[in-house]
Amino acid sequence: MIKKAVLPVAGLGTRFLPASKATPKEMLPIIDKPLVQYAVEEAVNAGINEIIFIINPEKNSIKKHFNMNEEIESKLINSGKTDIAKKLNPEIFTNVTFYYVNQEEQNGLGDAILHAESIVNNEDFAVLLPDDLFISKKSCLSQLIDIYNKKKSSVIAVNKIDRKNIHKYGVIQSSNITDNIINIEDIVEKPSAEDAPSDVAACGRYILSSTIFNHLKSVTRDKNNEVQLTDAIKSLISDEKVLACLYKGEKFDCGSKEGFVHATIALALRDESISEDIKKIIQEII
Ligand code: G1P
Repeated sequence: MIKKAVLPVAGLGTRFLPASKATPKEMLPIIDKPLVQYAVEEAVNAGINEIIFIINPEKNSIKKHFNMNEEIESKLINSGKTDIAKKLNPEIFTNVTFYYVNQEEQNGLGDAILHAESIVNNEDFAVLLPDDLFISKKSCLSQLIDIYNKKKSSVIAVNKIDRKNIHKYGVIQSSNITDNIINIEDIVEKPSAEDAPSDVAACGRYILSSTIFNHLKSVTRDKNNEVQLTDAIKSLISDEKVLACLYKGEKFDCGSKEGFVHATIALALRDESISEDIKKIIQEII
């Protein structure tokens, strides 16, 4: 059973300056919900009950966001606004434990995950990168958990990427990329388009064996002196099977402005309370 999830949220979010100067980029909303909450809901709905945020001291509003606010809740309930109270303190978070671990220096995604080691404590666990927003009938993490439950091995979500963008991702190599479940033979972090072993890339959701921590500790740092998760997965493959799951559904890269706006428009058009008005607005603009 996968019960723990690590969410690295310590990054500076420079692409979203000035918005991310005083507000963590993970707290920027897609319509009315902060980006990070989509990932937390995905995790909790997939059965996770311990969320480990790797955070930095500047990002306290994330902590505040996931704390129950009983004072405002009772004010809302007393004034008959029960529906709004549910949005304030979502019921699905009632039995979830939130942990916050500070990452003092930005030493890469692998280093961020290493900060969760003592809380993860020898259990296989999930990693969710909140910049990647997934919308699908069965969530991306649930698709991974289904495979993990059957195969009991690490499994990472992947999707096909345009070659022109492949240099932004961890790219897998496999002799059989036609199946939904792929046996990863190798993985390379951010290769050039010419060197990429395929057009299939890691897309922000992982189930990892706890042995990954040993690999995170032993891998060589990259040219920017960062510990890369991809390099630790590459090293894990020499000891254990690591699978990839071709994700079925939509994905929005909310770490980029285009992806963020794309997600906002797509979700607005699906929100019954505003979709008709938004359609008209878009038609007028066009
Ligand atoms: C990270 C990982 C990369 C992965 C990507 C998915 O990169 O290092 O392997 O493909 O997330 O979004 P980042 O987006 O942090 O540069």
